[in-house]
Order: sequence, then C-alpha cells, then structure tokens
Amino acid sequence: MTELRAEARELLSKAERVVVLTGAGVSAESGVPTFRDATTGLWRSHRPEDLATPEAFRRDPELVWSWYQWRRRLVGRCEPNAGHLAIARFALAHGHVDLVTQNVDGLHHRAALTAALETSPPKDPLPAFPTELHGALMRDRCSGCGLRSDAAPTDGPEAGPDVRVPVARCSECRALLRPDVVWFGEALDVSALEDAFTAAAEADVCLVVGTSSLVYPAAGIPRAALGADRPVIEVNMEATPLTPHATYTLNGPAGRILPELLAT
Ligand code: OAD
Repeated sequence: MTELRAEARELLSKAERVVVLTGAGVSAESGVPTFRDATTGLWRSHRPEDLATPEAFRRDPELVWSWYQWRRRLVGRCEPNAGHLAIARFALAHGHVDLVTQNVDGLHHRAALTAALETSPPKDPLPAFPTELHGALMRDRCSGCGLRSDAAPTDGPEAGPDVRVPVARCSECRALLRPDVVWFGEALDVSALEDAFTAAAEADVCLVVGTSSLVYPAAGIPRAALGADRPVIEVNMEATPLTPHATYTLNGPAGRILPELLAT
C-alpha cells in the first residue's frame, strides 16, 4: 500500500461520519458504460439532448424509450463489483456513511443487500441507501399522473440501442410511461440535495469515486466539504476538475482501490 493510500485509509477508518459520492466510474468494472469515456462513453455515440431531456421525449418518445429499454437490458445483465461491495460492507460496519450516487443503475442497492446477508446474523440493509440523485433506471414514472412503478422485465430478443420498441402506457391513466430518471433541464429532489450538501459539510471526510466532477449540482457536493475544511479523497482513473483541490488523489480502478481503502 502506498503511503498516500495508507493515510487516506486511516482517515476513513477514524472518521465518525463519512460521505461517499459516486459516479459512472464505480460501475464501469461491472460492464455499465460511463457517459464520457473517449471510446465507450454513452455520450460519444448519442447526444444527451436527443435522449435525456424532456424536449427529446416530447419530440420522439419512442426513440427515448427504446434507448432506455436498451440500457435496462444492459444493466440487467450486470452485477455489483468489488467497489460497490467494498462501499456497502464499509457502510454496514461503520454505521455513519451517507452514500450519494449520480448513478441510476441500482448496483449500490444490490451490493447493500448482498453485504447485509453476509453478516451473521444477517443485518437489515441500511434504509435509504444510497441516495439516488439522478433517479432509478429500473423504475417507471407516468408522464401524465406521475405514478411510479417497477419497470417491467426487459427480456426478449437482443436489440441494440437504436432498435425501436413501443412506449409502455400507465395502467391507471394510459399516458406514456418514462423512466424515473432526472433528465437534463429537470430539477433534482431538493431535500435530497440539501441533505447531501449538509452531510458533506459536516462529515469528517468525503470520498469521491468515479465521477468526472463536471455535472452540477452533484459536483458541488465535494466542494461543500472542501469549503468547510473537510478532507476529500478522490478515486479515479484520470484527473478531473476536482483533482487539484482534493486532499488525496488515488489513481486507479475503483474495484481495485476501494476494497483496500475501505477494509474494515
Ligand atoms: P462520466 O462518464 O462523466 O465520468 C466517469 C468518470 O469515472 C471519469 O472521470 C472516469 O475517469 C472515471 N472512471 C472510469 N472507470 C473507472 C474505474 N474503473 N474506477 C474509477 N473511476 C473510473 O460519469 P459521471 O461523472 O457519473 O447525468 O457523469 C455525471 C452525470 O452526467 C451522469 O449522472 C449523467 C451524465 O450525463 C444525467 O444523465 C442527468
């Protein structure tokens, strides 16, 4: 273990309260594509404004729905990786960890269920773990009445992101369903966001994993920690706008770094 990593690990093990912010990079080793990777990123082959805005859904609901159905199939085949599990085990053992994610893939939640079953006797999974700032891919929301429901299974013939499938309709009001995710131009849940900012400013350490730190307001969460003189540990494969300000920067894949960093 490098000296830097040992210091960061000690900081985390001694902290009474920890805030963890994650982005797409934490799920990359599970096979979920990130958004901005130079070769495989989702925003390389598609423009966000064509697929992830309310205007795009109004213009061509079937295109947007079909792309999300493809992502649902893709994520449905993925499993939580060593990074998700390390965070979940740490949180369960530690007890005062706020996990805030920009990811909509549900893998943190699945890792939390696994970690809870590993304990003897099995613990209850932590409630509200994680806070999903950008919503949940596997949940539908009615574009008419707002009713939320679990998304129907997306098995069936393998189809690429551009193969069109008809948009499902609400069982109550028959309006079109949409994925329950936050699109560009839409507001995040204000109280969840406020809680995350307050937690970051009050925690003893803020751990930031696998995010390009480009998309606000989420990117402001570690800034709130720094503004309150709290240490920030960044785990990433490459430098981000946060890197020059981070107290510790650990360079490498989350699935390799986190199990060592968060070992209890
Ligand atoms: P990005 O795709 O912008 O960034 C992913 C980050 O993860 C990059 O900084 C990579 O270097 C890093 N990374 C990749 N593989 C990694 C690994 N194995 N271990 C550690 N780090 C790794 O994804 P986000 O920052 O999550 O929003 O993107 C933020 C938001 O922009 C998303 O929630 C989404 C997107 O548009 C909406 O859809 C509203």
